[in-house]
Amino acid sequence: MIKLDFEKLREDFPIVSKVIYMDSAASSLTPRQVIEEISRYYLEYRANVHRGVHRLSQEASEKYELAHFKVADFIGANSEREIIFTKNTTESINFIANSIELDNRNRNEIITTYLEHHSNFIPWLRLRKKGFIIKLLKPKPDGTIEIADFEKLISNKTKLVAVTHVSNVLGNVVPVEEMIKISHNFGALCLIDGAQSVPHIPINVKKMDCDFMALSGHKMLGPTGVGVLYIKEEHLNDVEPFTFGGGTIEDVSIDSYKLTRSPERFEAGTPPIAPAIGLGAAVDYLTKIGMENVLEHENKLSNLAFKGLSEIDNVEVYGPAENKVGIISFNIPNLNPHDVALVLDNIANIMIRSGHHCALPLMKEILKRPNGTARASLYIYNTIEEVKKFIDAIKEISKI
Ligand SMILES: Cc1ncc(COP(=O)(O)O)c(C=O)c1O
Repeated sequence: MIKLDFEKLREDFPIVSKVIYMDSAASSLTPRQVIEEISRYYLEYRANVHRGVHRLSQEASEKYELAHFKVADFIGANSEREIIFTKNTTESINFIANSIELDNRNRNEIITTYLEHHSNFIPWLRLRKKGFIIKLLKPKPDGTIEIADFEKLISNKTKLVAVTHVSNVLGNVVPVEEMIKISHNFGALCLIDGAQSVPHIPINVKKMDCDFMALSGHKMLGPTGVGVLYIKEEHLNDVEPFTFGGGTIEDVSIDSYKLTRSPERFEAGTPPIAPAIGLGAAVDYLTKIGMENVLEHENKLSNLAFKGLSEIDNVEVYGPAENKVGIISFNIPNLNPHDVALVLDNIANIMIRSGHHCALPLMKEILKRPNGTARASLYIYNTIEEVKKFIDAIKEISKI
């Protein structure tokens, strides 16, 4: 593994010279290289894709298609046909939730967990209207999932298991590989919310063997406006598109239509061309660094932050200490988490997230903190010095 100069790569992110950014789980910063690639599209070959025979349209189509290949390689998919560009993780999950039909009353259960972001929770709850039964897997008080608890819930009635790979509140890595294997043994499908894992740890969907994965470009150095839905090849013909229209068909007559192959089949209308090309550049950037290096760097920072916060008397830190990415949730018991975030911005120029992080079931039922938590989330551009400043600032705020 080539060692990287993480100090040097900060030059690619002009914002880090102005603030200490610790809110990457909400949205990461974007390096110059990605912005330049997007600018190139607008300045040099701005045209629609898959529509024109002229040179600009051809170039835009090639670059847009190339982005599918890059993402496929990055997550270890079999082919670019398995990569569908959506707006974000939320849309990718809704895509599958929308396509699921109750075709067999003997298989009418969906399992999700108390750990989930609302994006991987509400779309399944909503399916109760279609007659599905939603079962909820409860983590331990520190947010870890026990396989034995999962085995108590799954059965031959389970149609789909929808679970996050990494908690956006606690940062812990969920044992999804084991869960997928068990799901398949029971004939159930498995959807993985990869919004907080794909930006931080090496991912191989083929090895993992999930049926679907959802992720967001804006959390992995890409621009906003593009997400990914991975659909395993064997399901491509079974999944009903979420939207229909231009670009999705092979033929249309006055009373019928024939859909074309994936990914066009699923990407109706003008797609997010510039964001997808930007995501391709973000994937190049992360690949150049190496995801093993990303994880190692983050673990170093995150261990320091976790230990530092845990040693402060008046601070509660949530989640396990190990097997996690750089997300740390905490509270100073007498203060509202929003106040902690505001003071941190005012006194130390540090940007963190506060509140329920779109994970109210976890906040209410597991952490028992309905006001939420303060959350620091770290990425490749953060440094040991920044983490030390953060710990010192929290020490000061805890004395308020
Ligand atoms: C685990 C998880 N899932 C889903 C989402 C939703 O992502 P988006 O807002 O990009 O759709 C987030 C966003 O924070 C997340 O952390």
